[in-house]
Amino acid sequence: MPLDILVLYGSYRRGRLGIRLADYLMKGFGSLGHKAELVDAMAVGLPMLDLRYSDYPAGEAPAAMTALAERLSAADAFVFVTGEYNRGVQPGLKNLVDHYLKEFDRRPAGIVSYSMGRYAGVNSHAAWTVTLSAMGMAVIPERLSVGQIGDTLDAEGRPHGDGGAALERGFAGFARSLAHWAAAGKRS
Ligand SMILES: Cc1cc2nc3c(=O)[nH]c(=O)nc-3n(C[C@H](O)[C@H](O)[C@H](O)COP(=O)(O)O)c2cc1C
Repeated sequence: MPLDILVLYGSYRRGRLGIRLADYLMKGFGSLGHKAELVDAMAVGLPMLDLRYSDYPAGEAPAAMTALAERLSAADAFVFVTGEYNRGVQPGLKNLVDHYLKEFDRRPAGIVSYSMGRYAGVNSHAAWTVTLSAMGMAVIPERLSVGQIGDTLDAEGRPHGDGGAALERGFAGFARSLAHWAAAGKRS
């Protein structure tokens, strides 16, 4: 069953590397016949959190916030591409996510963490698992963790070397799991 998947990413850094992983995932889901779309927090450009989307009177939220609310509500599943800053989450993605709640509720979410070093952003994975679960998402048990992101994926998001081969192997199981939980969610 083809899914409508949103890939959410939130680094605002110049020369950011995680966008390679977001690109890789979108191509990968596309090649499996799913529709995958990037939600790039920097491009969406929400302000630092003041009012949540639900706090605005009907029709008064900023246009970009409303458009994203509608896009989130329509999706079958979410994939969060999570880099790690000081053993925690990246603020851009957290700020975007905090604007919404019911739009994320009861949908499967996969977490794909990464970092420059060997530890592959595992602390961000742990932190996001807590946050997404608290917000009502079903976090799938499979995980993808990509270390040495700059060597594993080139600027076009193509995998290289042993790290790239491990990513390819891991992605297949991750995508299967996401599809399983999305289908289960549609049946319930
Ligand atoms: C403020 C800051 C804090 C960082 N903290 C960590 C960290 O705790 N653990 C880690 O593995 N890498 C850390 N890094 C390195 C990041 O993994 C690396 O810069 C990565 O490319 C960030 O993702 P981005 O390029 O998509 O912004 C940090 C980088 C920055 C800029």
